[in-house]
Amino acid sequence: DWKMQDVLEEEVKVIKGMVGPEDHVICALSGGVDSAVAATLVHKAIGDRLHCVFVDNGLLRYKERERVMETFERDLHLPVTCIDATEQFLNKLKGVIDPEAKRKIIGREFICIFDDFARDLEHKLGKKPVFLVQGTLYPDVIESCPPPGSGRTHSHTIKSHHNVGGLPKDMKLKLMEPLKLLFKDEVRELGRILNVPGAFLKRHPFPGPGLAVRVLGDVTEGNALDILRQVDEIFIQSIKEAGLYDLIWQAFAVFLPIRSVGVQGDQRTHSHVVALRAVTSQDGMTADWYYFKHEFLDDVARKICNSVRGVNRVVQDITSKPPSTIEWE
Ligand code: XMP
Repeated sequence: DWKMQDVLEEEVKVIKGMVGPEDHVICALSGGVDSAVAATLVHKAIGDRLHCVFVDNGLLRYKERERVMETFERDLHLPVTCIDATEQFLNKLKGVIDPEAKRKIIGREFICIFDDFARDLEHKLGKKPVFLVQGTLYPDVIESCPPPGSGRTHSHTIKSHHNVGGLPKDMKLKLMEPLKLLFKDEVRELGRILNVPGAFLKRHPFPGPGLAVRVLGDVTEGNALDILRQVDEIFIQSIKEAGLYDLIWQAFAVFLPIRSVGVQGDQRTHSHVVALRAVTSQDGMTADWYYFKHEFLDDVARKICNSVRGVNRVVQDITSKPPSTIEWE
């Protein structure tokens, strides 16, 4: 693809021009395609002066930390520091119900951790890192704050994507967003040119605030996160086994903070309800809900109720975007 080859060369030039010859750069890897491609791109431009960090915020999917670290090291040859900040994030989120408040808290915690990481690195290198790389895409920019003349009709914030808005004014690092003008399919193409493994590029998008926007209400309540991880894993594995993964833009489960009555093994239960969401989309700006075969849904719902303790009801989200958004919060 000539266009993306040009974009690649241009971006490498821009990054080399931005970063002084002695400067160091930090990149926060989320485990998603965007930050991995952004990191690989910056690594191509400045090599070992890029320092990657992956934060386990306690809001990751089933076995996500292990899976992602393995990909970075084995496939992408990117040296990555892994920080376990589970306690720190969950303590701050305790009792928080408002979706925007959750997003802001998570955004702030990430920045605190990156600042600490930068300080540690400064001690090690004897020099301050200068930039923080983020894998922000064009749709993130326009949804959080539509640029003038972008032709978007809304001028208010729909959701404050944590990697765009809410950065504190006193943040010591400058932002570098090399994918800011690209759409998702273009980022995947750029990744292909950069030799990022195909399986990685095909991963469904995952939001920065993670499972916090998929556990409605207080994420620390009971074992909501744990239940959600198990349900989500069954759903995604079933989709993969049915050969549907690549046909779907994004699929995931949502934990609802309500209980419903059921009957399991002759016992009355009063347990949790989970929702399944799957959509097709070009760029995440609009989306259509995905039509599964009834047999597939029947099989997934059965597997979930049979193997996840605390769930006795499975529902499917059959709304498109608009009027809904893809995530529930
Ligand atoms: P919504 O829910 O706004 O999501 O329709 C559109 C796409 O963006 C993802 N998303 C996010 N990505 N940080 C991200 O990096 C965020 O805060 C965030 N919120 C939503 C969402 O998963 C979907 O692919």
